[in-house]
Amino acid sequence: MKRIAILTSGGDAPGMNAATRAVVRKAIYEGLEVYGINYGFLGLVNGDIHKLELGSVGDILHRGGTFLYSARYPEFATEEGQLKGIEQLKKHQIDGLVVIGGDGSYHGAEALTNRGFPTIGIPGTIDNDISGTDFTIGFDTALNTVLDALDKIRDTATSHERTFIIEVMGRDAGDIALWSGLGGGAEAIIVPEQEFNMDDIVDRLNKGRERGKKHSIIVVAEGVMSGNEFAKQLAEYGDYHARVTVLGHVQRGGSPTAFDRVLASRLGAHAVELLLENRGGLAVGIRENRIVENNIGEILKEKHVCDKQLFDLASILSI
Ligand code: F6P
Repeated sequence: MKRIAILTSGGDAPGMNAATRAVVRKAIYEGLEVYGINYGFLGLVNGDIHKLELGSVGDILHRGGTFLYSARYPEFATEEGQLKGIEQLKKHQIDGLVVIGGDGSYHGAEALTNRGFPTIGIPGTIDNDISGTDFTIGFDTALNTVLDALDKIRDTATSHERTFIIEVMGRDAGDIALWSGLGGGAEAIIVPEQEFNMDDIVDRLNKGRERGKKHSIIVVAEGVMSGNEFAKQLAEYGDYHARVTVLGHVQRGGSPTAFDRVLASRLGAHAVELLLENRGGLAVGIRENRIVENNIGEILKEKHVCDKQLFDLASILSI
C-alpha cells in the first residue's frame, strides 16, 4: 500500500473534515501518499482526484461541511459506475480507499471491495443509523443544534402556554428525535421505530395541563410524518392548536463538537491502520469507547434501531 484516496459521500455531517484531516495526516506520517476525491462517488467516476499534502487539511478541523464536497450518486450502484470508479483509481495508481458517509456510501465501499479494491468505511452521518458503532460522526453536533433550538422554543412555548411540534431529521432513524427529546424534556417523541397512538399522546398532554404544565413539546422524526401533518392530526383530537418548527438542514451544519472531532480523529487514524495492513471491506466504529472494525457487508445487513430503553426512559421522565 503506497497511495490511498479519500472521499466523503451522501448527506454531509459536522466532523467529516476532522476525519479527512486524520486520514491524510496519519497516512502521510506512515509514509503514504494521499489523494482527495471531490464530490464523493460522482467525482470518483469523473476522475475529480487531486493530491493532498499535510497543509491541504490545515484549518479545517473545526469547520462543518466537507471540504471535499459531497454528492448523492445512486448511479454508483450500477456495474458500469463501479467499473468506471475502479478504472479511475487504477489510472491514479491508488491502492486503497477510505469512504466517509452513511449506509448508501457503505454500499459503494462494499461494492468496490467485492470487485477487489480495498475500501474502508468511516461512519459519517448525523442520523446515527449505522450498525456496529455506538455513534456516527456528526450525530453529537446535530443533537446539540436541535437541543439549542428546543430550549429556545421552550421559552416561547412557556410564555404563551402553547404546544409545539418540532420536526427533526431522520428518514428511517429516530436517534436525533429520541436523544434530543430526552435531553430536552419533550412530552412526546415520535420515531419510525416505535408505533405511536394519538389517544395516548393527547392523554399525556391533558394530564400535564391538569397539573399546571405551561407548555408541551413534541419531537417528531421526519420519517414518521411531517410536523405539519402531525399538528393536523393532533388538532382533530381536541383543543391543541400546535405551532410547528421544521429544523431542516440547519441540523447538518455548524462547527463539530469536541466529541465529534475526537471521534472523527480516532476513526480516521484507524481506517489508515487497516489499509496499511492491506485490509479492506471493513467499517470502523466506536463501541464502549474502544475503536473497532466490522465487516461492511455484515453492518449493512444489520438494521440500526434506536434504543428502546432510552425511549421508555424518556416517556417515564416526561410523565
Ligand atoms: O444526512 C442524512 C439526512 O440528513 C436525513 O436525515 C435526511 O432525511 C436527509 O439526509 C436529507 O437529505 P438531502 O439533503 O439530500 O435532502
